[in-house]
Parts: sequence; C-alpha cells; structure tokens
Amino acid sequence: MTIRSILLHPDPRLKKRCDPVETIDDDMRVLIADMFETMYDAPGIGLAAPQVGILRRVIVMDCTKSDEEDSAPIAMINPEILSSSDEMNVHEEGCLSIPEEFNNVERPATVRVAYTDPEGMRQEIDCDGLLATCVQHEIDHLDGKLFIDYLGPVKRQMITGRMKKRKKEKAAARA
Ligand code: NI
Repeated sequence: MTIRSILLHPDPRLKKRCDPVETIDDDMRVLIADMFETMYDAPGIGLAAPQVGILRRVIVMDCTKSDEEDSAPIAMINPEILSSSDEMNVHEEGCLSIPEEFNNVERPATVRVAYTDPEGMRQEIDCDGLLATCVQHEIDHLDGKLFIDYLGPVKRQMITGRMKKRKKEKAAARA
C-alpha cells in the first residue's frame, strides 16, 4: 500500500464532477487500499478519490471515535444518497484538502445511502451522527463540492486566501 499525496484547495481537480466506476479491477482495489492508508496516515475520517487526483466516484471512511472502539472502515463505490431526513444537524467539519480550517456546516441529520462495495455487492445503509456528516461531505467531493461552499462568500474567500498562502509556503519549502 502506498500513501498518496493529497491535493490541497484550491485545485481545479477538486472542482470536477467525477465519473462512475464501471468495473472493479485490480487498479480499483489498489486505489481503495491506498486511500485507506492515506486517510489513516493523515489522519482523517474520510477521503474521496479526487483528493488523490483520481476523478472517479470512490470514497473511504472510518468514523470510529476513539481507539477503544473497533475500527469501522467503509469503502463506497458509486455512492448515492437515496433519501435525507428533514431534521438537520450542525457539525464542525474539516477536510484533508483544506487543513487547519474548521467550520460548522448544517446538513440532514440522517441519510440513506446506496453504494457498491469493493466485492461488487450493492449495499444500502442508514447513516446518522458523525457518519451522516462524513458520507455527505465525501459524496460532495465526487461532485466537485467542498464544505467551504456551504459558507458565506467572505468566509470562503478568507479560507481560500489562507490556503493559497500555505500552498506557496509549502512549494517554497520544497524548492
Ligand atoms: Ni473533504
């Protein structure tokens, strides 16, 4: 397994709508394994394929809250939200592509999600709590949407400005 580099906002690849996965082949299995490795290394609780530069509809998540709980890795291929609750929930979100930035985002409290698992089986699950927030955040990535798109324009521009500066500093440090 390989830790892949995570694209940082702003990057045009993070704004693209990703294509569905047609076949689950060895390349796809390697991608999923690498995405888990990359997510745990970061560390984060969710990662979408476009964040590692692959514009396909694949996400991985593990919303285990503490070390005492068993880990609960979930990989979803071509996930889609079938239904959302009217009840909303506000959760502070962050993103591995927008490090050091955290903001409250309001989303439906529960969602029903259909997806194909890495074995090629179609699955449907109800998500609530942190998993509901996480799965909606990750599916948004597949449609080129970031959590900062839910914020007002002023806040979003401030974050993007800080990210541009950080990316410049990182590039300078590498040179
Ligand atoms: Ni994210």
